[in-house]
Amino acid sequence: MQEFLQDNIFKIISEAADEQQQECYVIGGFVRDIFLKRPSKDIDVVVVGSGIALAEKVALKLGKKAKLTVFKNFGTAQVKLNDLEVEFVGARKESYQRDSRKPIVEDGTLEDDQNRRDFTINALAICLNKDRYGELVDPFGGIEDLKNFVIRTPLNPDITFSDDPLRMMRGIRFSAQLGFFIETNTFDAIVRNKERIEIISKERIADELNKIMASRKPSVGFILLEKTGLLELIFPEVLALKGAETKDGIGHKDNFYHTLAVLDGLCEMTDNLWLRWAALLHDIGKPRTKRFDSRLGWTFHNHNFIGEKMIPEIFRKMKLPTNEKMKYVQKMVSLHMRPIVLSEEEITDSAIRRLLFEAGDDIDDLMTLCEADITSKNPEKVKRFRSNFQLVRNKLKEIEEKDRVRNFQPPISGQEIMETFNLPASAIVGDIKMRIKDAILDGIIPNEYKAAHAYMLQIAKELGVTDKK
Ligand code: CTP
Repeated sequence: MQEFLQDNIFKIISEAADEQQQECYVIGGFVRDIFLKRPSKDIDVVVVGSGIALAEKVALKLGKKAKLTVFKNFGTAQVKLNDLEVEFVGARKESYQRDSRKPIVEDGTLEDDQNRRDFTINALAICLNKDRYGELVDPFGGIEDLKNFVIRTPLNPDITFSDDPLRMMRGIRFSAQLGFFIETNTFDAIVRNKERIEIISKERIADELNKIMASRKPSVGFILLEKTGLLELIFPEVLALKGAETKDGIGHKDNFYHTLAVLDGLCEMTDNLWLRWAALLHDIGKPRTKRFDSRLGWTFHNHNFIGEKMIPEIFRKMKLPTNEKMKYVQKMVSLHMRPIVLSEEEITDSAIRRLLFEAGDDIDDLMTLCEADITSKNPEKVKRFRSNFQLVRNKLKEIEEKDRVRNFQPPISGQEIMETFNLPASAIVGDIKMRIKDAILDGIIPNEYKAAHAYMLQIAKELGVTDKK
């Protein structure tokens, strides 16, 4: 018998269901995750009859430590016990209409309920009634599919996906999360039904994309999205990276596969979701800036800046958060070339100070992204980049300790400049302020008030501005 069934909560649900004379099963993702040995705190219980009545009985038995919430409109109820959440729902039969994800729902049997589920591995049920406690009900070979790492719909996949097109993305997401294959018929049905994704809200699509991004190897998900044709519909900007052109015998790399290699590489180094997004989007400006020059070959001038500018529109359209997370992604995309350019030149203190100033506290994340961006197949090249990078890192540390320019605020404010020279807010004030900042970053003066003040007076003199005192 499964170990989890020893847990008190399942014994209590069992008792309550028997007392109510209700057939009752634990079902769905929780059961799948038991077999996959993935910890899960969300338990779905399906009851042939009223889910709410069983939840009320269970909550009564658990006493004060449990919290019951009833969702009358949905006919479901939730019991929270410490960090466990148990959802109770009556077994249902669903039928869908073509233009909506909202099914017509009727009471049904366990079989009806399993039929309406997305994948065989998500349709497994384990009985909780005493006389069948622990009995697995697996009508579609879900266990076999778990063993063979297969994603497959229980019924005709055209029906399963047309009923709820979000499932196409769920299938791809499970494939990325679990490292499973999508069985051929199921895959072909995604290709046939891909246009139906249009009835799904952007928020739900973004949820699934974020789960793909959080998986160990997101490229699995993006390659499936591309192969099924979904990528073109949900994220054309990423698809535009695909392809490698050759002209006069000069080619450029395929930026789609390069991007995915950067993303996978980065995922080995960090769980930071937004840095992962930055990796996905770091070259997003390349298709728009691509040019061929007979002397220089392929160029992508300013693709980092164009990429930075494209991000707000992408985030808005995809209903991703347009807050400081987006700003962080923009910053990473705009700066992603800087450390690599630095590492190829002689590394001056001034360039390092400027990088520290612009990246601020995100400097370590930026270095991680840049390191993942080295995807050359030439081991000599990779070695050279890595050791140059180490030099950049050492230098960053040295300059940071010496000059404290990370998140640096110029020691003289615009206000002080205005008061000193009796100036209104004007371009010249900004000019003086910028020149003080540049002088500090270029190492002409130290990052100190006294030196900055003396420098301010000097520039003002040069510009013909006089001290009012
Ligand atoms: N389900 C479905 N179709 C959907 C969403 C869910 O058939 N579009 C069914 C599946 O049986 C699924 C169960 O509802 O296992 C619970 O859904 P959910 O909690 O969203 O997903 P899980 O499978 O538990 O996986 P995860 O928590 O990783 O999303």
